[in-house]
Parts: sequence; structure tokens; C-alpha cells
Amino acid sequence: MSTKEYDYTQLKKCGIDTFISVNVEIRRPHLVSVGSHTAIDSGFYCTVSADIEDYIHIAPYITVIGGAKGYLKMCHFSTIAAGSRIICGSDDHMGAGLVGPTIPLEFQDNLTIAPVVFEKFANIGTGVVVMPGVTLAEGTVVGANSLVTKSTEPWTVYVGSPARPVKSRPKEKIYEYARKMGYQV
Ligand SMILES: CC(C)(COP(=O)(O)OP(=O)(O)OC[C@H]1O[C@@H](n2cnc3c(N)ncnc32)[C@H](O)[C@@H]1OP(=O)(O)O)[C@@H](O)C(=O)NCCC(=O)NCCS
Repeated sequence: MSTKEYDYTQLKKCGIDTFISVNVEIRRPHLVSVGSHTAIDSGFYCTVSADIEDYIHIAPYITVIGGAKGYLKMCHFSTIAAGSRIICGSDDHMGAGLVGPTIPLEFQDNLTIAPVVFEKFANIGTGVVVMPGVTLAEGTVVGANSLVTKSTEPWTVYVGSPARPVKSRPKEKIYEYARKMGYQV
């Protein structure tokens, strides 16, 4: 383990064999739990509450926004590749008010705040944007640079903006290996 590490004691919970870079900004660490065998790399910026389970990789420069009411869940073996953005809350931008968190409450736009969930084995490529309320079903893969606006079907590969299904993803080997590692599937 490097000596330059995050202060894990700030977190709600942290498992074993987990690495979090010192160069992250977790705005509400008391609302974030992290499991075991997980790595969170440099540049992670997170404003929401989160439950991050085991064998997760959050690659460099990932933004998770949505504020105190936003929520991200990452189930075992899910991953986010470099530079992706997870939007758990956003202004609606439809004219109901002025936009941005610095606007006084009475003049603010409507907000959509809804959890983003990565079910087990869901993996997203680099530069992907995921919108509020999306559940990436078990085994979903999202191709690089895609925009995910709707929840996905299990074991399906999605690409594009907006992301569309292009093929299915075999699960047998993944299940076999996860079972051998002691995880129920
Ligand atoms: C989605 C992905 C896994 C699919 O890989 P694949 O099975 O080899 O895909 P294919 O080449 O068979 O592509 C299927 C179709 O989707 C298209 N496609 C693939 N990836 C795409 C992407 N990211 N965006 C848009 N279209 C894409 C292909 O052009 C192809 O279209 P066509 O049938 O019209 O020719 C891969 O393209 C990808 O994006 N991987 C993520 C890489 C990454 O970010 N890794 C993390 C590193 S930190």
C-alpha cells in the first residue's frame, strides 16, 4: 500500500484490501460506504451518498454529482472507466426557474434527483454519461463515450448517444468465476 492514501476513517464504512487515492474529493464521506477489494483512483469527485460494494473499480477522473439527496449504488464487480460522469441529480432546464445551486431557493429550477444503480457485473466504458434514475441491470456493458438515458436490460451491450442495445453478453464464465470467489449469483 502506498503511504499516500485517503483517510478511510471518514467513511461510513470501509472493508478490507481497499485502496482510495488521496487525490479524491468525497464531499459527504459519512454518507459513503465502500466494500472490500475495491479501488477508487485519483480525481474521483463525489457529492452524493453512496454504497459501493466489493471488487469495484472506479477509474481516474470520475464525477458523481447530485448533492446530499443524490444516491449511487454499485453492486459487486461493477466498474466505471476513466472520465465517466454519473448524474444522480440535475436541474430540469425546462424554464421553471433559474439554473444552478447558487440561485436562491424561491427562484430555482425544478430538480430531478433519482438514484443511479449499477447492478452486479455492470461495466461502463470511458467517457460515459449516466442520467438520474438509471439502473444498469446485471451484466450490462456500456461502450465508450455513450449517453445512458434509460435503464438497461440484463447482460446486454449498449453503445451510442443515446445508448442503444447492440448485442448480448455471455454470463456463464462470469458467474462461474464469481462463485469460485465465494459470491452468490
Ligand atoms: C462496447 C464495446 C465493449 C463493444 O465491443 P465489441 O463487442 O468488440 O463491439 P463491436 O465492434 O462488435 O461493435 C458492435 C457495433 O457497435 C459499434 N460500437 C462499438 N463500440 C461503440 C461505441 N463505444 N460507441 C458507438 N458505437 C460503438 C460498432 O461500430 C459496431 O457497429 P456496427 O455493427 O454498425 O459496425 C466496445 O466497443 C467499447 O466501447 N468498449 C469500452 C472500452 C473502454 O472504454 N474501456 C475502458 C478503458 S479505461
